[in-house]
Amino acid sequence: MVSLAQIISEISYEMQGEKDRGKTASYIPSLAQVDLHHWGMAIVDRDGKMYASGDSHKQFSIQSVSKVFGLSLALDLEGDDLWERVRQEPSGSPFNSIIQLESEHGIPRNPFINAGAIVVSDILVSKYGFQGAQGALLQLLNPLVSNIDGMFIDYELAQEEDETGFRNRALTNYMKNFDNIHNSVDETLGFYFRQCALSMNCQQLAEAGAFLMSAGINPRNGKRVLSTRHTQTTLALMMMCGHYDGSGAFAVRVGLPGKSGVGGGILAIVPGVASIAVWSPGLNEKGNSLLGTKSLERLVQKTGWSVF
Ligand code: DON
Repeated sequence: MVSLAQIISEISYEMQGEKDRGKTASYIPSLAQVDLHHWGMAIVDRDGKMYASGDSHKQFSIQSVSKVFGLSLALDLEGDDLWERVRQEPSGSPFNSIIQLESEHGIPRNPFINAGAIVVSDILVSKYGFQGAQGALLQLLNPLVSNIDGMFIDYELAQEEDETGFRNRALTNYMKNFDNIHNSVDETLGFYFRQCALSMNCQQLAEAGAFLMSAGINPRNGKRVLSTRHTQTTLALMMMCGHYDGSGAFAVRVGLPGKSGVGGGILAIVPGVASIAVWSPGLNEKGNSLLGTKSLERLVQKTGWSVF
């Protein structure tokens, strides 16, 4: 049988040869400048063994992948009350769409589109305060990751997004009009941008996601991070909504719960088996990593890891 180490190095080789590498996100200046040739992948298996290849140790902006961690914190705090402020349905719309908010009274379709993640951020700011929410996020991540070197909130990048994030500001103001934002727009959005500006590498991200592979338990210390039921909820939402209006195609091609970010990262989970992080900064037309998706498709073909 071919080993996982061999599979991941085959995928690395195949991806090096890809000519079409997608396009970096242009609306966040620092992300636009990232070299399209980067590619990295890391897999943590259920025994905690790490398999990694390419630029798996190189930091990148995890952007919307962070929405998984924000949601975990909020679900742990609010439980099912959360679903009064955010729904659990796929949107079929781009990540930054405002259109459904009008007819749906300021209640976002799910916690992974920007509007939904901003409501989740608002819940965390209500509970912990603006500074405290950043601390809570790092406190969630630190025990999950074995080497936290270079894992930090990139304030400069967050500031850049704050200055250019007119659309997210519009979404937040619009939801405040429906009383679905309880703090000031500046604080809620300020925290949201900082959460998105988390800088991690693939190895750290695969480790950070490992509690989702193991029913909510941190495999590094055996401590519970999230209840089994909330973990299942998070995975179901990743499958249905983790790639926005590309979620259906991702489910068909890869068949795993996954969450993408405009930095080009994807976290994908094989329940009970593996936590996978892949990074390639070029995006497809839906804003999801082009080669990241292709790499996961290859991985699932070679391992039979699709949940279907
Ligand atoms: O709010 C934004 O637009 C970014 N901070 C995050 C968007 C994102 O990562 C969408 N994912 N593919």
